[in-house]
Amino acid sequence: MAERRLLILYGSQTGYAEDTARRIGRQGWRRHFAVTVQAMDAADRAAVAAGAQPVVFVCSTTGQGEEPDNMRRFWRFLLRKSHPRDALAGLRFAVFGLGDSSYEKFNFPAKRLFRRLVQLGARPLVPRGDGDDQHYLGVDGALDPWLDALWAALLADYPLPRPMVPDSVAPEPSARVEFVGGGDTEEPAEAEAEAEAEAEAEAEAEAGSYAARLIEAERITAADHFQDVRRLRFAVAGGGDVRWAAGDCAVVRPENAAADVDAALAMLGWAAQADAPLAVAGRGLRTAAVTTLRRLFTRHFDIGAVPRRSFFEMLSYFSESAAERERLREFASTAGQDDLHAYCMRPRRTILEVLDDLPHSRVPLAYIFDVFPEIAERSFSISSSSLSLPPVIELTVAIVRYRTVMQRDRVGVCTRWLGALPVGSTVRLRLARGTMRLPADPATPVIMVGPGTGVAPFMAFLRERLLAGGRGSDKNYLFFGCRGAHRDFLHAQQLQQWAAAGALHLFCAFSRDQERRVYVQHRIREQGALVASLITDGGAAVYVSGSAGRMPADVRQAFVDVIAAHAGLGAEAARAYVEAMRKAGRYQEECWS
Ligand code: 2AM
Repeated sequence: MAERRLLILYGSQTGYAEDTARRIGRQGWRRHFAVTVQAMDAADRAAVAAGAQPVVFVCSTTGQGEEPDNMRRFWRFLLRKSHPRDALAGLRFAVFGLGDSSYEKFNFPAKRLFRRLVQLGARPLVPRGDGDDQHYLGVDGALDPWLDALWAALLADYPLPRPMVPDSVAPEPSARVEFVGGGDTEEPAEAEAEAEAEAEAEAEAEAGSYAARLIEAERITAADHFQDVRRLRFAVAGGGDVRWAAGDCAVVRPENAAADVDAALAMLGWAAQADAPLAVAGRGLRTAAVTTLRRLFTRHFDIGAVPRRSFFEMLSYFSESAAERERLREFASTAGQDDLHAYCMRPRRTILEVLDDLPHSRVPLAYIFDVFPEIAERSFSISSSSLSLPPVIELTVAIVRYRTVMQRDRVGVCTRWLGALPVGSTVRLRLARGTMRLPADPATPVIMVGPGTGVAPFMAFLRERLLAGGRGSDKNYLFFGCRGAHRDFLHAQQLQQWAAAGALHLFCAFSRDQERRVYVQHRIREQGALVASLITDGGAAVYVSGSAGRMPADVRQAFVDVIAAHAGLGAEAARAYVEAMRKAGRYQEECWS
């Protein structure tokens, strides 16, 4: 009988596609496949190309319809022109995409991947699956029926050798986790020192990250304004050679608050062993080989996250109460997704709260990496220029606060951590390429549209252009929007100073300083003649940054309208003009939700 091997490859930015890939992997294991789950970039390409086993690809979408970082190399490899037309003729595959249909480039990476695989001769097992965040069940709405079809196709080729492993049996843990010397024999002080040393080594190993010291943390919205936006400035240790381009981002991995870590460890029954040295081994784990539970629950596990379906699936194996187990299995099942949504997603109930609500749930130590999701990195546009000396990394960060439908006040994990950092403390920062880039020619006029914290990268744009000086540096046009001139006018002093010096043409839309709401797009329309001539005669580049939602489309419509009105183009021709600008990289957007 044919060997029953199955390879599951993911391209994942926030961990959702990886979680989905692992879930598919567990289903394959129940069907007696020897399953490997890996990031696409970690895959053995020759084995994939040879079609040694069927491959299930799971990938999400980032930025403006781009591939997640951990599949980029694999994707570039597939794109090589040197592949013969039938390079993948032996490969049988399936592709599932995760995306959000409210974005224009919905599931583009999955669509491109599917098309390219077919082009190279690979044969799909099932049509592409398109998971959609807009579905009321989220991505699972499309995933479940797609998986039914996938397993039917696979089992037709690889019949079950014996009955499936029942749902009540827990899969093998993916990592080895054990206390060094049983957990209580070591002196705590010694354990701490050892763990610290390991942690340092781990930090050094994080490629391209810098130790950055917080030197200033200033609130830049009025004290009585509802939103707390901070200007955070970091000095980079030995920072002489740190370089970034305007538009780039700083990436940080937040830590959980100490009180939450204590609460989680207590609920899980590990308060006494929190600081005992713990040996962990397993493929692809981003932790030190010897660590402690306190460190893992502080730096690694996202206990403040709203748990995904697989969390309930894993908990269901270990609950000591039959009633709880029943409930958990319901949440993990396809039929229970409405209930799970009502229990967890809608009220944004966190892992910590779920553990509190299900007191009989136990997590065996060996399974911690399978149960708890990893804390994701967050990226923030850098507001400073690396041309300034000494280089200081400045971020403009809104502290995310909201009230859930359960009337609980929440603070975003990352912004809470950043917001609570004392001046003088050191964090690890990684630099990452942003999607927006200044024009190569400094004489090209730039029109920037940045309501709210969308202005963050434009501070870097302006600093870079002004520090570089020379020709054209005053052809800077910024449309900024906020609630009120004395409430949340971010970086007001600096912007007004540049404007007074003639280096910046500044147009502000204070939405709530008058009866009628005024937004950046209204200001763009008011300046229609200027804006259209900068674009059509001056060759200006346009940048839009800020919150996703309606703003990017409203702003784009304003540009289309002013070009139509002032450049003598019809509505269709003006739309085509802006579309051509986008294709040529002369109209760039960086928006987030
Ligand atoms: P509002 O909150 O008063 O509605 C930064 O958040 C600024 O963007 C605020 O002044 C906000 O106004 C404004 N804003 C909200 N929706 C917008 C949209 N669709 N287009 C442009 N600006 C918008």
